[in-house]
Amino acid sequence: MHDLIYLDNAATTMKKPEEVVQAVTRALCSLGNSGRGVHGAALDASRLVYETRVLVNELFHGWDPSQTAFTMNATEALNIALFGLLSPGDHVITTAAEHNSVLRPLYALEKQGVELTILPCDRMGRVDLNGFQREIRSNTRLLVCTHGSNLTGNLYDIQKIGEIAANMNVLFLVDASQTAGIFPIDLQRMHIDVLCFTGHKSLLGPQGTGGLIVRPDVKIRPLLYGGTGVQTYRKEQPPEMPAALEAGTMNVHGLAGLHASLQWLKEQGAERLREKELELMREFYHRVSPLSNVTVYGDFSVRERCPIVSLNIADADSSRAADLLMQEYGIAVRPGAHCAPLMHKALGTCEQGAVRFSFSHTNTMEEVIFAADAVRELAE
Ligand code: ALA
Repeated sequence: MHDLIYLDNAATTMKKPEEVVQAVTRALCSLGNSGRGVHGAALDASRLVYETRVLVNELFHGWDPSQTAFTMNATEALNIALFGLLSPGDHVITTAAEHNSVLRPLYALEKQGVELTILPCDRMGRVDLNGFQREIRSNTRLLVCTHGSNLTGNLYDIQKIGEIAANMNVLFLVDASQTAGIFPIDLQRMHIDVLCFTGHKSLLGPQGTGGLIVRPDVKIRPLLYGGTGVQTYRKEQPPEMPAALEAGTMNVHGLAGLHASLQWLKEQGAERLREKELELMREFYHRVSPLSNVTVYGDFSVRERCPIVSLNIADADSSRAADLLMQEYGIAVRPGAHCAPLMHKALGTCEQGAVRFSFSHTNTMEEVIFAADAVRELAE
């Protein structure tokens, strides 16, 4: 049997650059606690964290490195932003393309008196983004949209939503979990007020890393309270970023990996990596979409989309199909509901789920052809 063919990169990229592995190992053996001491190991950790903020700020064209707060993952960043921005009586608009990391905090906030509007998706997972404009009310505080669907791979035009938000004087939050690192995101040009990202997907860093970047004049109430290494005698959390949103010891070892992956991405050039991923995705799509018995979900009429192809084989349960792909062909994919309940509802796949193939630049064309052949055999 060949090596594992890993096509679950939308869940996490598994093959990280060697530099990332080395950086984490070095950090584990040498770094102290960032912001918690004046000895060399603690200062090295602080420097590493600061340099990582600089790289993040540069990548997304933010305002100032100190406006990036690091978190454990995108879910934590999204919870901080949503609970810290919205209050009872506020109105928020989002889409049915969102992951539960957005939907569940918003449902919880709805119970506390926040008004929630969810723009629908059509059968191809598309959202009429003009709905953001149409649904704005006098108490609308925030628009929330994912940059790319983790299920269909559809991208949403965040520049357009940002312009609506800026014209209507409401805040705009983007969930960049599926796109950060590989698709261009420019916070200033796109009028994004808060960007939430994870480090372990296309940013190629370790799990346990992520964060949020906040426009300097936007204030977010903290979700967590605790030590920051500064202003110890204050009873309140320090109001300045990033300490305002970073309580407790940071994942400096993970951030060392993220620092290395950000540098690696910068050297390699995201555009080149993205082109390869899209080429692999398109080849797979062109091979599987004409097969009778195979249903592919999402909008493939556009050029720019995430490197994801979700499908079903006849009426086979998606978990059964994924199991066969693993057991018989050594191919790793993700079946089921993908924490995207409203998108599955829109696609009509709540019962069956879907089998998601997601590609990385580390995959090869041979792997893609092998996987498409496996789908064809199962479909036959
Ligand atoms: N949100 C991740 C996924 O889509 C884990 O698989």
